[in-house]
Amino acid sequence: MTTLAVLTSGGDSPGMNAAVRGAVKVAAARGVRVLGVRDGYDGLIDGAFLELTTPSMTAPCGLAASPDVDAHGNAGGTFLGSARCARFREASHRKTAVEHLRTIDGLIVVGGNGSLTGAHLLAQECSTPVIGLPASIDNDIGCTATAIGVDTALNTIVDACDRIADTARSHRRAFVIEVMGRQSGYLAMASAVAAGADAVLLREHERSDEQFVAFVADTIHRAFAGDSGRRRVLIVKAEGVDIPCTLLVRRVQESLDHTLPGVEVRATVLGHLVRGGRPTYQDRMVAGRLARSAVETLLRGESDAMTAWQAPFGGGAPTDDPAVTLFSLKDVLIETDALLQGTSVVTRWRVQMLTALEGALGL
Ligand code: F6P
Repeated sequence: MTTLAVLTSGGDSPGMNAAVRGAVKVAAARGVRVLGVRDGYDGLIDGAFLELTTPSMTAPCGLAASPDVDAHGNAGGTFLGSARCARFREASHRKTAVEHLRTIDGLIVVGGNGSLTGAHLLAQECSTPVIGLPASIDNDIGCTATAIGVDTALNTIVDACDRIADTARSHRRAFVIEVMGRQSGYLAMASAVAAGADAVLLREHERSDEQFVAFVADTIHRAFAGDSGRRRVLIVKAEGVDIPCTLLVRRVQESLDHTLPGVEVRATVLGHLVRGGRPTYQDRMVAGRLARSAVETLLRGESDAMTAWQAPFGGGAPTDDPAVTLFSLKDVLIETDALLQGTSVVTRWRVQMLTALEGALGL
């Protein structure tokens, strides 16, 4: 094996650069050149590559990471660029991408479920082995306990909740804070518990808009009515809950104006704020170890698989890293679908754990 390529795809997530750095350094240590692909699958179709290794007189195998890899390794976002590439869904464009991979001995795809779907297709249509790394703040990728970027996003949300709690307490107000996650409620549930929120609103609860309004109004009522001494209420809403945050809050406010006059409710949508920022130690460490195993897997000539972190409920093939397991991309995509449909044992367990906590959160 002489040359590997790496691309980052889909929504960027903190730690993608650390994953690229990990892959480049491990490959360079084996004397393997690494090319970066610009802007995800778009760059693969257009043949836009950049050198990520550089000749080194002092390195044992004569190669080292390029200055770019070093400069961006600890930064958020992705210095390679990313894209949600609609063209890659078309076989004709994938054929062009396969042409560009002809001189490359292995490809690492760092991204979320759409990107891993692309990696699975490519692995089937191309003789170059392809290995995926799970990276998405949403934590909606099957077979892995966490994806690159989740920990940083959670820390950002928890910090934002703490800040909002400061101002909420000062005015004795209630806040509904919406967090990203697309169809997955993981960021909302995990951050709500860590921030000491009073309640969480999840798509997985399958409530109607009216039920969500009533639930929020009731949570605020219970916290502020009487002589509780409570100074703030925080409710975390997952993006997947359809009713827009501002509409929800307006309707809750209208309801409270009758039952608990004087209490003010505010809405904050954290949005893309949650996706940026320097990766935490945890995300850098997970990214580095998943990337190392991905390179080792490619060097063994394996393809069409994803390196997973601490696989929930086991399964997969062991690697020499006890925290990293190898799953076929087919199995990953099936489990990802089940996670999003709510039929996965993992989703059911997460929602059960939260439901068991529901009574305790607002106390
Ligand atoms: O998948 C990551 C994510 O940030 C989701 O949480 C969110 O729904 C989506 O991407 C936003 O996508 P875009 O940046 O394309 O608007």
